[in-house]
Amino acid sequence: MRNISIAIDGYSSTGKSTLARQLARELEYVYIDSGAMYRAVTLFALRNGLIGPQGLDADGLLARLPELEVGFRLNPQSGRSEVTLNGENVEGDIRTLEVSRQVSEVSTLGPVREKLVAVQRAMSRDGGVVMDGRDIGTVVLPDAELKLFMTASPEIRASRRYKELLDRGEQVKYEDVLKNVRHRDYLDSHREISPLRQAEDAIELDNSDMGLKEQFERVLAHARRVAEAQ
Ligand code: DC
Repeated sequence: MRNISIAIDGYSSTGKSTLARQLARELEYVYIDSGAMYRAVTLFALRNGLIGPQGLDADGLLARLPELEVGFRLNPQSGRSEVTLNGENVEGDIRTLEVSRQVSEVSTLGPVREKLVAVQRAMSRDGGVVMDGRDIGTVVLPDAELKLFMTASPEIRASRRYKELLDRGEQVKYEDVLKNVRHRDYLDSHREISPLRQAEDAIELDNSDMGLKEQFERVLAHARRVAEAQ
């Protein structure tokens, strides 16, 4: 069976990364979490005082872009490939509501996108990857053999994210999480460069009422058919 590329796009908290990880594990592919890379750049901006009360200092961030290196490294403890910022594993610091609040704006910057897309493409050169994000099927891997576009209602997505944040010990209100989900949907799909949209050849997957197991089994069977047909 040939190693294909699988592109998974969709709104935030639709379970893209859960599905992508399941597929990568089963097919023995590499999983690439492109959102984690935008989050790592956002973390860099927060840590370096480039996001303040006045908002994002875009020029300041772009000026420092050359000194910024985002990649992935296997964590032997978790068995997962985790995102690194200038060599430091920052996986544990990028999922806060603070990073979530700022990341959509950081990801509107063309030079940031160009830099990260180049890394994403280099990692996918030989196929055998599952990558999730917003522009994977449309921009990063337009020739991916299998493209999925995941959706679910904002309320369902917010309650999933809310539980995740509570489990991680963050003090958040459901209403704030829902507001953040809706706001990011808007920003992600209305930005000028590489907005979130469904690729023409992507399969839409609405998982508002679908269990994880059923979703995984359906997509896995389809991925195997696509790989066999290559
Ligand atoms: O998937 P996520 O929620 O971790 O992504 C974080 C943000 O990064 C998301 O709000 C939009 C941005 N993003 C992007 O612009 N392009 C991608 N390919 C992946 C994420």
